[in-house]
Amino acid sequence: MGRQVIQCTSVYFSPTGTTRRVVKGISQGLSMRPRDYDVTLPPARDRGVNLERDELLILASPVHGGRLPQLAKDFFLRLASGKRPVVAVVVYGNREYGDALLELYDLCVGKGFEVVGAGAFIGEHSYSHVMGKNRPDPADEERARRFGLAVRQTMLTDNTLGEKPLLAKGRRPYRAYLTKFSLALATSRRCANCLSCVRHCPVGAFEGGDPRKVNRDKCIMCAACVKLCPEGAKFIDDDDFTDDMAALAAANLDRKEPSVFLP
Ligand SMILES: Cc1cc2nc3c(=O)[nH]c(=O)nc-3n(C[C@H](O)[C@H](O)[C@H](O)COP(=O)(O)O)c2cc1C
Repeated sequence: MGRQVIQCTSVYFSPTGTTRRVVKGISQGLSMRPRDYDVTLPPARDRGVNLERDELLILASPVHGGRLPQLAKDFFLRLASGKRPVVAVVVYGNREYGDALLELYDLCVGKGFEVVGAGAFIGEHSYSHVMGKNRPDPADEERARRFGLAVRQTMLTDNTLGEKPLLAKGRRPYRAYLTKFSLALATSRRCANCLSCVRHCPVGAFEGGDPRKVNRDKCIMCAACVKLCPEGAKFIDDDDFTDDMAALAAANLDRKEPSVFLP
């Protein structure tokens, strides 16, 4: 006897917006309009998430350093535990997703969720306009929709995802978190003081709402301020970092394709 899913909720962290777009594609494939919890910004995280019994949950996060960003993980861990079907999704910048999907899978299992599908999708890299350029693109969105449709169909058979296929990509213990790195975020004269950077910061790192004053202890280097500035006025002012990113981009020009896992 399969599961009848009446309702769907999506919960995701998405500083530069690519994870949000992948979630939207998956929801379209599921033919469901989820209750949408974008928990990127502090007020949304403060409000929390109400999970109904038996509804399908889409849980999604970008990959940071081959792991889930600590902030997203901490928030997901606070969700109500209990038996419910979950689709686990990570989005990475065309380099590698490392241990992140396995980590998300483990988190779900630890909370008593039943993982009915998992996927690693590609989004333009937060630090680059070359790696994963313009992704998710229409082909990725179509892949996300087909994945959503496949999840809907497999749910009718009541299976949950074993960990085996996921283990092919991730390892336990997971790799270490990126050591806290603090780069100089600079603001050019193009800044029009529109405060887009301040509004989109997931951790409220701009002191006194001033786009030029970043609290580097709070900053998680997600690059939302850089990517979402309409004037292109924010940049990371660090030559070594720029060189490293250029080398990383040169080594990751090949197009990676989404990996999806179904029971
Ligand atoms: C701190 C940090 C670390 C990252 N580490 C990786 C990584 O290990 N592998 C990768 O392919 N992309 C990595 N990325 C790129 C993001 O995973 C990618 O751009 C993703 O699409 C961002 O999602 P968002 O738009 O929802 O924020 C990293 C980005 C940041 C900000």
